[in-house]
Amino acid sequence: MVQGAANQNINSNEQWLQNYVDDWVKFYRKHTKEGEVASYIPILQEANQHHLGISIIGNNGVTIESGDVGIPFTIQSISKVFTFIVACMQRGVSYILDRVDVEPTGEAFNSIMHLEMRQVKKPFNPFVNAGAITITSMLNGKTSNEKLNPLLHLFEQILGYRPSLNEEVYESERKTSIRNRAIGYYLLELEYLESDLELTLETYFKQCSIEISINDLATLGMVLANDGEDPKTGLEIIPRQVARLAKSLMLTCGMYNASGKFAAYVGIPAKSGVSGGIVAIAPPRFREGDFPFLEGCGIGVYGPALDKQGNSIAGIRLLRHIAKQWDLSIF
Ligand code: DON
Repeated sequence: MVQGAANQNINSNEQWLQNYVDDWVKFYRKHTKEGEVASYIPILQEANQHHLGISIIGNNGVTIESGDVGIPFTIQSISKVFTFIVACMQRGVSYILDRVDVEPTGEAFNSIMHLEMRQVKKPFNPFVNAGAITITSMLNGKTSNEKLNPLLHLFEQILGYRPSLNEEVYESERKTSIRNRAIGYYLLELEYLESDLELTLETYFKQCSIEISINDLATLGMVLANDGEDPKTGLEIIPRQVARLAKSLMLTCGMYNASGKFAAYVGIPAKSGVSGGIVAIAPPRFREGDFPFLEGCGIGVYGPALDKQGNSIAGIRLLRHIAKQWDLSIF
């Protein structure tokens, strides 16, 4: 039960929920100083390490926002969930899963080790860079813009506007992309790529540079929480099978080599990005007590100070606290 919630009708008292979330953001903001903003993409270093914000959007229409909510940031690795979805919609699930596995690696997101060991005949999963770059190579299109159009269209259908690229972030990553190029060359040698390496990397850097807000992340999460259907319109935007598959991958691989701990301690599907964003999903759940967002919700978090695995340090703690207080875990 939510602290002190015994006799309250939680969902009808948004102000009361808002006050709790405000207190929690205030409390967890102090953990931002324990992390570091990403520096391997130089421009990301300009983020304010003390920022922390959250947006929670319920399938029932209730929205709670708190902290630094108005700051645009680049989607980075969170894009991997949606390129995976688009690739499955274009090629079919079995085509994609024949070429990219669904196993967690326990390694860093940009690890090369498994490619070098060649124990498997495909990248481990769509969220490590090797898998994500392979997925990007499979998107339809002869130019990076053609490849990205369906992704931006999907975002537009869900968000009601077409997000743009942050050109500065794109350039900053493109110029410093030594490790992703190394991964790309391995993928090329292993014959996993389905389009030209330069085109694939250009598309990958562009997808990472799409600029969004935590509200956008919460909205994207809400549609996934609802198995791909927009609860506002009842329209199916993502096929149910694909939405479910994406969520299972988020649960097992979404937080990189911290995915096991996140599943154990928070217990909901989530995906992080190196600019400090996290999209998390609480599917509808049945509980005896009166808990918020029983109909399901999407959660967007922004906190650019990262832990060693590249996940928002304060964002994870905030999510862990909320999941515990509101009994969000799917287990
Ligand atoms: O591949 C990269 O380096 C980035 N553009 C995306 C990495 C990322 O977001 C990893 N997440 N925690």
